[in-house]
Amino acid sequence: MNELDALVDAATGSFAQAATPADLENAKAQFLGKSGRVTELMKGMAALPVDEKKVRGAAINLAKQAIEAALTARRQALADAELQLQLQAEALDVSLPGRQRQQGGLHPVSLTLERIEAIFGSMGFDVAQGPEIETDWFNFTALNTPEDHPARSMHDTFYVEGGTEAAPNLLRTHTSPMQIRYAVQHVKQHRALMDAGGVMPEIRVIAPGRTYRVDSDATHSPMFHQCEGLWIGQNVNFKDLKVVFTDFCRTFFESNDLVLRFRPSFFPFTEPSAEIDIQFQTGPLAGRWLEVAGSGQVHPNVVRNMGLDPENYIGFAFGMGPDRLTMLRYGVNDLRLFFDGDLRFLSQFQ
Ligand code: PHE
Repeated sequence: MNELDALVDAATGSFAQAATPADLENAKAQFLGKSGRVTELMKGMAALPVDEKKVRGAAINLAKQAIEAALTARRQALADAELQLQLQAEALDVSLPGRQRQQGGLHPVSLTLERIEAIFGSMGFDVAQGPEIETDWFNFTALNTPEDHPARSMHDTFYVEGGTEAAPNLLRTHTSPMQIRYAVQHVKQHRALMDAGGVMPEIRVIAPGRTYRVDSDATHSPMFHQCEGLWIGQNVNFKDLKVVFTDFCRTFFESNDLVLRFRPSFFPFTEPSAEIDIQFQTGPLAGRWLEVAGSGQVHPNVVRNMGLDPENYIGFAFGMGPDRLTMLRYGVNDLRLFFDGDLRFLSQFQ
């Protein structure tokens, strides 16, 4: 084998050994670079006579072309291999089963709230939302609750930062502050009409939402839901409360023979006051009295704090527990299940 063929062989071997494009460029430099072996051969021709130069030059050129061809082939081979690896890494297995999108749904308590809103909505009640961080005024004072009432103690109520000592902020302990907030707005809207001797359109509203108390066991959670109801007009009375609430309960539980009982009770903001108990005539809970709401005729002091004259305006309020209603409706006996976030439980309501 002559010297030039040996050189082509050496280059081809060296290119074949290069495992990466960078190695290949280094190998190329050894043969075709500025001081590479082919270049050295070219330089060596300077000393030859003219006729020998021609022959030798042509031979070197052939060798150089062969080396360049080997380089190009190896470059292509490395690029092909890399592409092959990438294709393998990114390959999609189209035979794998698809990822299924989970079906979401409303929380059982949300389902109850929607139901409550729909039923009272059909009876002409507006739906109002209010803040969960309340002032002492709206939560207690405006609702005729005296300074020394136990509900105001630290043991029962979560006080939070942001208020003053005289007017602390707290997490609302019930939705009743919405009675005042909503009524004050409503009265303001119709003040001019009343000043001109007109009669205020009735207040008819429910206010569902989260409420908070220092309380925790199977039937009490520190965060729970309430739904307030308020109906104020010139001649709204206990009979109306009884009709409306009976209608609501029978519709909610889809039970026409459901019976209600108004049991005398006490709340600072209603007088007289009553707990509302219900009794199913059929089903697993039949025959038992189950407490579902507090209620009463709105106290004159509260009517006054709404900006109305209690000689002219009267009505009733109630506060019910949507969590309790949900437990009764679905036969759930531990309130905490609603707030644990366990999908095995929650998915049963979809
Ligand atoms: N706010 C009372 C409670 O949380 C319920 C209630 C509301 C009672 C409205 C009377 C009128 O127990």
